Amino acid sequence: MAGDGIGPEIVEQAVKVLKAVGSKYKHKFNFTEALVGATAIDQVGDPFPEDTFQLCMNSHAVLFGSIGDPKYDNDPKAKVRPEQGLLAMRKKLGLYGNIRPVTTFPSLIHKSPLRRDLVEGADFVVIRELTGGIYFGERGRSEDLNKAFDTMMYTRPEVERILKLGFEYAAKRNRRLTVVDKANVLASSRLWREVAQEMAPQHPGIEVDYMFVDNAAMQIIQWPKKFDVMVTGNMFGDILSDEASVITGSLGLLPSASMGIHTSVFEPIHGSYPQAAGKNIANPLATVLSAAMMLELSLDLLEEAQAIRKVVDRSMEAGMVTEDIAEGKACSTSEVGDWLAANL
Ligand code: IPM
Ligand code: MG
Repeated sequence: MAGDGIGPEIVEQAVKVLKAVGSKYKHKFNFTEALVGATAIDQVGDPFPEDTFQLCMNSHAVLFGSIGDPKYDNDPKAKVRPEQGLLAMRKKLGLYGNIRPVTTFPSLIHKSPLRRDLVEGADFVVIRELTGGIYFGERGRSEDLNKAFDTMMYTRPEVERILKLGFEYAAKRNRRLTVVDKANVLASSRLWREVAQEMAPQHPGIEVDYMFVDNAAMQIIQWPKKFDVMVTGNMFGDILSDEASVITGSLGLLPSASMGIHTSVFEPIHGSYPQAAGKNIANPLATVLSAAMMLELSLDLLEEAQAIRKVVDRSMEAGMVTEDIAEGKACSTSEVGDWLAANL
């Protein structure tokens, strides 16, 4: 699903790289394309059409570009919006766990808004609950329109499921799990904490700590290196994962996975960057690295995933990168994709 803005260009590069993986490792990937986002509204009037949904359900994994178009952002009265497609996709595919690795790249540290010594070597993962909480709770507006509300609601199974993903991820990494909530104020957060405290003894190898979200927001800036795996609810995760991504200085490089009940979706964390659409200048690396996450997490092709990460590192060492991170002469989006495919 290429989606909107720069989506088509960057997904095309990731597909090139996957095809190169296919020929090198003797796999055949079967690609099918589907409409999503503003493009889908324009063509069929629905940002997550039924055909797209069925295709996703029948796929082992979904690679996704981006969604969003400024013509909807500036129109608060628009009846359908591209973002509704995103939320519908998450709900219908049961994409309950959003995984965003926060990694620094040595050649980009100088782009970080933080001091080098604070951020160099930072390496953690934000796991965000994606199909519950305030994004999907009851909401409404009073008749006189002077009151509006949104509800943050979590059930025990929802909390258990996302915490389980957190524990599993921590077990694969440095075995530290930080549960982020607002348990000093919110009942739903107290449920999170209760469930986490019940689950912790079943994972004796994992060091669990609890942090209020406001404090977490500060610590990400002050001591980003102290985190390993952070797990949190939908809205807190939305905010903290954006904050975390920007301290690395490498927004154009960060991939993500949304683990689902039916299938999982892999996408760059950056948006649709409409100003660059069609110009062949957008950085495809976050999408390429999302394809690597897809191979690892959905298709169990670990060596292949590693090969993609390696060739991405080499492209940066060789300066074969787009203008957002180039020091010297910049490559175009498609040149980066070609280089990666040829050098894999
Ligand atoms: C994200 C985005 C979405 C969200 C928006 C576009 C609805 O910010 O994927 O983080 O808030 O979940
Ligand atoms: Mg967000």
